[in-house]
Amino acid sequence: FEENWPGEPSDPYWSQQLDLAEEDLRQGAWSSCERRASAAELGSCARAQWLVARCLDFMAEAKRDNKILSRAIAVYLQLLKQNERLPDQKLVDVAHRAIDRIQFRGTYLNAEPIYRLLIRRFPDNVHYRNNLTVSFLMANRADLAASVLKETLLRWPDDRIALGHYGYVLKNQYNLLTEAVTYLEKALEDDVGAANEPRFYYHLGDALLQLGKFGEAHEVHKRGAAQGHFLSPEQRSLYNVPRLKSRPWWPIETTPYIKLARALETSWREILKEGLAAKEFYEKEKEGLKERGEWSQLDIIVRGKEVPGRCKRAPVTCSIVKSEAAAAGCRRGQVKFSAIEPGTHVRPHVGPTNCRLRMHLGLSNTKDTFIRVGQETRQWEIGKVFIFDDSFEHEVWHNGTGSRLVLIVDVWHPDLTPTERRTLPAI
Ligand code: LMR
Ligand code: MN
Repeated sequence: FEENWPGEPSDPYWSQQLDLAEEDLRQGAWSSCERRASAAELGSCARAQWLVARCLDFMAEAKRDNKILSRAIAVYLQLLKQNERLPDQKLVDVAHRAIDRIQFRGTYLNAEPIYRLLIRRFPDNVHYRNNLTVSFLMANRADLAASVLKETLLRWPDDRIALGHYGYVLKNQYNLLTEAVTYLEKALEDDVGAANEPRFYYHLGDALLQLGKFGEAHEVHKRGAAQGHFLSPEQRSLYNVPRLKSRPWWPIETTPYIKLARALETSWREILKEGLAAKEFYEKEKEGLKERGEWSQLDIIVRGKEVPGRCKRAPVTCSIVKSEAAAAGCRRGQVKFSAIEPGTHVRPHVGPTNCRLRMHLGLSNTKDTFIRVGQETRQWEIGKVFIFDDSFEHEVWHNGTGSRLVLIVDVWHPDLTPTERRTLPAI
């Protein structure tokens, strides 16, 4: 049976106006629908507000207009304020659509009051709590996520999704690695259940690596690969195009980037000069990838876009990079100088995507510095390029003296089609 909206108008004229507005909505006559349903006389009527929100929502979609979408969301929220009056199914319909549109706008925190009232109405449904957690994580509010998770786990101590998220928060927000491992292991026990997802395997393995438990990490990576979450135990990027050739080190001659590599090598002295002259603009690495030491970088091109003013500071570097569209236009990579100081160890990690290859041009102090990619460790040479795939596990040591400088140039993976290069979302 169909539940009714509360507060139907008693006057048959206004009732009919709402029927007409509903017909407008079916016909795609959104302006007319909005006009009828937003009459002042219908102000307290839930069906009228629902119709106003729906037609603004469809109008926004058709016109791709975020201002109209914001108005639609505001009306959904207005309607939900009277949630006490709404029957279960109506509440769910309105709430789900409002949350969907809020997520589309990317304003995740705005979904909180909606989840709160869903949780109040359906206190036995753990999904709403877990979805609220995800909204907080999307909004970069791991602190708020943690407090929801604690409550959730009190009542649902075996909920796999909550266990996985709590492990993730303990690791990435509070750096409590041992505790994180306990929760993530429970979330993924026997490789079954709702938390059987790439990211939970990724974070469990990464926490074990950070703890120096390499054997256990490898077991987790093997399990993740067996579940199809990783391309292989060593290649653990999460944003992948599956058919691309996988190998950790790429001899330059096996790539279409020979000309670019040779041009970089020919001009290495000028490139070094440009990298040194811009010292004041380097930024410290902030992803927490180094176990000890100092590592800083100067971004030149990020996701296929020049950082404003940088090519003026590094004109030779930029003109060479810009001669290769697969480098300058690589929206899943960067062009940057990378300076690592003596005594630094960059712990084993993987990049986010298999869609790029990473060229390094050695520029200074490469003696006693090492990079392992997959099973094979190599050394930089001044004025020489090598190419690797940073979606494979890699690790760097600086056991020498003086700042080791390299130029990093990411290029599209050669197997990607022109359409993929144009349309893959940037990373
Ligand atoms: C990395 O990408 O982790 C390192 O190779 C960077 C660097 O400067 O060596
Ligand atoms: Mn790396």
